[in-house]
Amino acid sequence: MLVVGGGGREHALALGLVASPSVGEVHLAPGNAGTASIATNHDVSDSDVEALVELAQSLDCDLVVVGPEGPLVNGLADSCRAAGIPCFGPHSEGAELEGSKLYAKQVMNNLNIPTAAFHLIDSASQIDAALDDFAPPWVVKRDVLVGGKGVVVTSEREEASSALHEGVSLDGVVLLEEFLSGEEASMLVMLDESGWVALPASQDHKRVGEDDTGPNTGGMGAYAPAPVVTEELRQKVFERIVDPMHEWLTAQDTPYRGCLYVGLMIDDVNDPYVVEYNVRFGDPETQVTVPLIESDLYELLYAVATGNVAYSNPRFSTAHAMTVVLASEGYPGPPRKGLPITIEHAMIAQEEGGAFVHHAGTASADNGQLVSSGGRVLACTGIGATLGEARELAYSLMDGISLEGSHYRSDIGYRAL
Ligand code: AMP
Ligand code: GLY
Repeated sequence: MLVVGGGGREHALALGLVASPSVGEVHLAPGNAGTASIATNHDVSDSDVEALVELAQSLDCDLVVVGPEGPLVNGLADSCRAAGIPCFGPHSEGAELEGSKLYAKQVMNNLNIPTAAFHLIDSASQIDAALDDFAPPWVVKRDVLVGGKGVVVTSEREEASSALHEGVSLDGVVLLEEFLSGEEASMLVMLDESGWVALPASQDHKRVGEDDTGPNTGGMGAYAPAPVVTEELRQKVFERIVDPMHEWLTAQDTPYRGCLYVGLMIDDVNDPYVVEYNVRFGDPETQVTVPLIESDLYELLYAVATGNVAYSNPRFSTAHAMTVVLASEGYPGPPRKGLPITIEHAMIAQEEGGAFVHHAGTASADNGQLVSSGGRVLACTGIGATLGEARELAYSLMDGISLEGSHYRSDIGYRAL
């Protein structure tokens, strides 16, 4: 197996694959210090599509699992399939659902999938009229990949206006969206032309600060299953959002084979709206979702990569999972890197569940010292019979970690608890 990427998501995927009796070797490109201890890392950037395909060929891989969106948008899945290597992750055209928010909006509108109304703005002269059309708060979205940080939500007209001006001048176009209020949840759907399977729903915490304050991040913590996604709501999501999308994707020339991440807003009358689609597993949602897959992870991913998900029969655990992200000083702005990390306990073993540290932005210095190398450094993940138990396990691992200047949220899971 080759897992592409080097975050906490990829550490979680690698752990799941290593545990599969069907898997021989697991390789990562580039991986991190955590994956180095369970698999083989290769010093190949996750943005170098050509080198990644060469690596998969030289390792004689049976499956390439792509973590981040960048290489998918840049055609990694197209190249793997052209080389005859099954790939978990959609081709570049399918990846445009995440690569371009405008394209995703147009697809949703054509399919009548519930989502926020929007204005496409391609000239500064349209900005005032567009702002007048929606009540505050305003939601401004750039139409380019910016690691989950290209969205401004604000009730200050000046701030919304300047974000719109900046979008027009940087990218030529920018979106202004109607604000959706409610509770967010993430549904990861394993999807190919044969059908689809939804994994247990999770809830991320996008804001950097306690009580959902401060700027948006890639995600500061998550838990699963998310009780806001009731069985009734799941059925609405399937009927209104997943089925029409599956039907449309299946009618395209090249089948979509991978994870369709449905970012949901659930309003006060329990109706779901799509905030965004991603074309990959979520990070940190994967850290709490993969451990709840009781059946063989490899079999599920391989089934999707070969267009057979309808014939796979994944089983899910009834446990609860929570993950808490430790971020570097400065994150989500430019992070301080290269500082030593000490981890008192890498895991807590328990018969049912336990806890472990998922590495993300970590590396080994020349002297072997574990050091920080990114914004989100690691995530402490607990698995328990209840969400409260999962929380206790995750935070007790976090208590034993030190990294100068780092920060984490102490309120992950507050909505459910
Ligand atoms: P996105 O990158 O589209 O997921 O947006 C990042 C975050 O901004 C989301 O997780 C929401 O918290 C928030 N957001 C995005 N679009 C909207 C919207 N239309 N209404 C309310 N909040 C939104
Ligand atoms: N946690 C949000 C994302 O993966 O996009």
